[in-house]
Amino acid sequence: MYAVIFGKNPALSEAEFHSFSRRFGLKVRPAESNRYWVLFESSSEIERHFHWLGGSLKLVRIIGEGDGAIRNLEYSRLFTVSLYGRNDWRLWRKLGSDIKREFKEEGPAKFFKPAKTYAMPAELILKGFPEVKDFVFIFKEDGSFLVGETVKVTDPFELKKLDVERPVQKPILSIPPRLARIMVNLSEVRKGSFLDPFCGIGTVLQEFVLQGLSAYGSDRDEGQIRAAKKNLAWLRREFHLKNSAHLEVCDARKLKRCFRQRFDAIVTEPYLGKPLKRHPGRGEAIKLANELDRFYYPVFESFADVLKRHGRVVFVFPAYKLSGGGVYRKERKWLGKLGFEVLGRYTDYEERHKLVRDIHVLRYRG
Ligand SMILES: C[S@@+](CC[C@H](N)C(=O)[O-])C[C@H]1O[C@@H](n2cnc3c(N)ncnc32)[C@H](O)[C@@H]1O
Repeated sequence: MYAVIFGKNPALSEAEFHSFSRRFGLKVRPAESNRYWVLFESSSEIERHFHWLGGSLKLVRIIGEGDGAIRNLEYSRLFTVSLYGRNDWRLWRKLGSDIKREFKEEGPAKFFKPAKTYAMPAELILKGFPEVKDFVFIFKEDGSFLVGETVKVTDPFELKKLDVERPVQKPILSIPPRLARIMVNLSEVRKGSFLDPFCGIGTVLQEFVLQGLSAYGSDRDEGQIRAAKKNLAWLRREFHLKNSAHLEVCDARKLKRCFRQRFDAIVTEPYLGKPLKRHPGRGEAIKLANELDRFYYPVFESFADVLKRHGRVVFVFPAYKLSGGGVYRKERKWLGKLGFEVLGRYTDYEERHKLVRDIHVLRYRG
């Protein structure tokens, strides 16, 4: 039995986890889940692929349930304790002491408390791995709890490097590498050819290339294509990769003119409109969304020209946090008319953008 601990957008993390399991053909049988974690049966195969999950924090191997399970933990000279579902300093200390006592017979043990937190962040775990074990207590609503050990974490150092060490950066305009990874998983396409037709400086392309996928990118702006090329050359050097991406200067409404082949998946964050200075009112939001739809409609017509039958699209539409509270998310019936079936919709919000990402997962009926 395993548990996956979700990241800061749990609904998106959960959707990604299920897509990821299907994408990698993992036989996962969920047993229970709540806002912060999912508990499931799976073969150890998941440990090999966990690295490619963007929105989760930890993979925990469950050892047992309740106090008695502490006895079955494997000895470690140094350990940390993470609590999920409880924020209780006394409990945290007590469980640490219980473990220490259990370990006494096997040798001295130190409860490592490096941060003022009851759940060890992946950064700290990675620094200590594997000498420092992270023992995890997952509390359910009825007060019972599961005990386990962190066996994998997603790598925040790698994701940060992909963002801030590349030669060309555009902090406001580009998508976080973690979200690029999530979107690739949401496509559920494991192998095949992937296109980002609004590639910008190439964040999504970086993810395609890192995963060894057949990668294609285009952008209307030649300067962006030059920037993406620079970033990809850096990526290949830093990560010792042999593959790269095919890049074209191309208007996303005219993809047929630039690409001869058909794609298995399109994963992209398009132009989302001018940056907002403040949150719009409802009327304003509707107007902004309608204006952009006049651009997105021919973009999707063009997607239909270059997608394989049943090809997938993961696309960020803008939604708007309103000045009066609430969020405006537009319904787009025209997607169905163009042959695109919406399989899922998830939101992600970043304060600095004042914009909500309304991530759509679509299938092209062909
Ligand atoms: C939001 S950015 C994409 C950022 C990219 N996902 C990244 O993280 O680097 C949008 C990009 O769309 C491009 N763009 C705008 N209109 C376009 C069009 N009609 N066809 C193709 N690209 C277009 C812009 O040049 C810009 O690079």
